[in-house]
Amino acid sequence: MNVLLIGSGGREHALAYALVKSKRLNKLFAAPGNPGIGQLAEIANLKISDHAAVIAFCRDQQIGFVVVGPEAPLVAGLVDDLKAAGIPAFGPTKFAAQLEGSKGFTKDLCAKYNIPTAAYERFKAEAPALAYLKKMGAPIVVKADGLAAGKGVTVAMTLAESEAAVKEIFAGRFGEGECVIEEFLEGEEASFFVLTDGVDVLPLTTAQDHKRVGEGDTGPNTGGMGAYSPAPCMTNALCDEALEKIVKPTVKGLAEMGHPYTGVLYAGLILTAQGPKLIEYNARFGDPETQVLMIRLESDLIDLLLATTNSTLKGKVAAWKKQPALTVVVAANGYPGDVQKGSPINGLNQDFEKGVEVFHAGTALDGEALVSNGGRVLNVTATGDDIRSAQAKAYRVVDAINWTDGFCRRDIGWRALEK
Ligand code: AMP
Ligand code: GLY
Repeated sequence: MNVLLIGSGGREHALAYALVKSKRLNKLFAAPGNPGIGQLAEIANLKISDHAAVIAFCRDQQIGFVVVGPEAPLVAGLVDDLKAAGIPAFGPTKFAAQLEGSKGFTKDLCAKYNIPTAAYERFKAEAPALAYLKKMGAPIVVKADGLAAGKGVTVAMTLAESEAAVKEIFAGRFGEGECVIEEFLEGEEASFFVLTDGVDVLPLTTAQDHKRVGEGDTGPNTGGMGAYSPAPCMTNALCDEALEKIVKPTVKGLAEMGHPYTGVLYAGLILTAQGPKLIEYNARFGDPETQVLMIRLESDLIDLLLATTNSTLKGKVAAWKKQPALTVVVAANGYPGDVQKGSPINGLNQDFEKGVEVFHAGTALDGEALVSNGGRVLNVTATGDDIRSAQAKAYRVVDAINWTDGFCRRDIGWRALEK
């Protein structure tokens, strides 16, 4: 079949890498794509926010399946519109994507179904939020409701910090002012991915990412500076516990609302002394976690994603390479702040070691030349016999790439290596 992949990041390059291995694929198209994806797919000249144009393109090119990578088109209802037009599309509906799009929605669902998560309150006005902070004290966590590209969360160690965060939200920094204030939880974080067709749940695997820009997990939050899979802290027992206490009740809850969740569900967990608790859901694959997942995936990706979409997930299994994988994000200097675009990247046209893939994120072509085009630019991804060897391999390739205006963290995987 012909498949259209929506998105332009490292996650989508990794999905494209797995999609083109599928026996079911005839031709892969991508929009907006990037130069790395362009080596595997035909880039469609499409504005993905124009759903009518996407539908027309699908009809024109006989697209049998659309795979939506990022959250924004999900929250905008692209899957709803494609399905209404009779085009199978992977990903949750706009309603179900609220699991990611609205922290308040998810928190209310957790309360209703007894899903372990941080205690919280929702506020629509500044004064009661500030009064609540005074009552609770620090440490405490302040979150803007809605999508904020990972930048809407403040883990405040002092009352002053938490008050500043609340004021920023109600000043409209993240759009409509509404915030969630929640209990500060302590523990190691891990990501757990499942596919669900709304009834059955197929656990995929686990990963851990490094959200902070600086070594030792310090400095501002980013979209993620690196990741590895599996997460050593996520034992089989903890995966089972997360599945039974967190994921399954969520899937059941959405089905009971009449809006079954179909797609990948990414649970961001924190492993507290009381067991795993939910920090957040994402309604899509993680970025850069997908890069390490896809390099480890042995099953046919189209087969799994189609079964998810067609409600035939029951009995499916996902097979993974035993070898772990690790990815290093190479970002433009200045990230997660303002960055310069258009700086030339050289050294990618060489034969790298076996078990290495360089996924493109924010890249573009300037004539024939590859240039940077965003904050996170390349994802150097490697498998190895253990995390240490995957890490060494990834950094050897990072060092072989010639790009003077970028940087990376040199300690990706440190938590796994300490174990
Ligand atoms: P989120 O966007 O909700 O995933 O939050 C971003 C990051 O903030 C998480 O990955 C955690 O590191 C941290 N965080 C969020 N909620 C809490 C919490 N209740 N307690 C401690 N840290 C948190
Ligand atoms: N790496 C974090 C995310 O995809 O949300």
